[in-house]
Amino acid sequence: MGKITIAIDGFSSTGKSTIAKQLADWLDYIYVDTGAMYRAVTLFAMRNNFISSEILDSQGLISSLENISITFKKNQKTGIAEVYLNGENVEKQIRTLEVSEFVSPVATISEVRKKLVHQQQVMGQGKGLVMDGRDIGTVVFPDAELKIFLDASAEKRAQRRYKELLERGDDILYKDVLENVIERDHIDSTREDSPLRKAEGAIEINNSEMNLEDQFHIILQLAKDRI
Ligand code: C5P
Repeated sequence: MGKITIAIDGFSSTGKSTIAKQLADWLDYIYVDTGAMYRAVTLFAMRNNFISSEILDSQGLISSLENISITFKKNQKTGIAEVYLNGENVEKQIRTLEVSEFVSPVATISEVRKKLVHQQQVMGQGKGLVMDGRDIGTVVFPDAELKIFLDASAEKRAQRRYKELLERGDDILYKDVLENVIERDHIDSTREDSPLRKAEGAIEINNSEMNLEDQFHIILQLAKDRI
């Protein structure tokens, strides 16, 4: 079987990573969650006081970028790749609402994007990869054989995210999650560098009323047609 590159982009909490993981698993491909990389940089910024009292010190963060190393390692029990920041597993710490609140401003910084996009392109050199994010089909792999753009209503997406956070044991309010989803979409779509857009040639799927299984089968078939 040949190997292709699959780019999955879309708004926050559209279920990109769930679908991407399932696809990668089925195809025996590498899965890369690029949102986790932006989240890890944000966690680094928070821990090193480049974010305090709602203010982001972009210059401070930019001058520290060379001290940030982001890697992925498979969890032996679950088989899922987890993200490491300077050698520490931060998979849980990067999923908090606090990180979600700062990640989109951090992701507007061109120097941050340049560093992460380069690493993502290196990871995908050998193809056989499913990558999800906001700029995969437009910037990271514009020549990907399969590009998917996922969308759903903001309320549906916030409900899914809220459920996930509750299941993790986080103490949060639905309205805060909804606000965060809307705010992130706005920043992601209006930023100057690599705004969230449907890539040329991308297939758009609105999954507001679609279950996971149906989505998976549609996308898997699209992938099989291209392999
Ligand atoms: O995918 P996830 O929701 O975890 O991504 C967190 C944030 O990281 C997004 O809201 C966006 O601001 C940023 N991001 C990005 N480019 C990507 C992936 C994520 O700007 N390729």
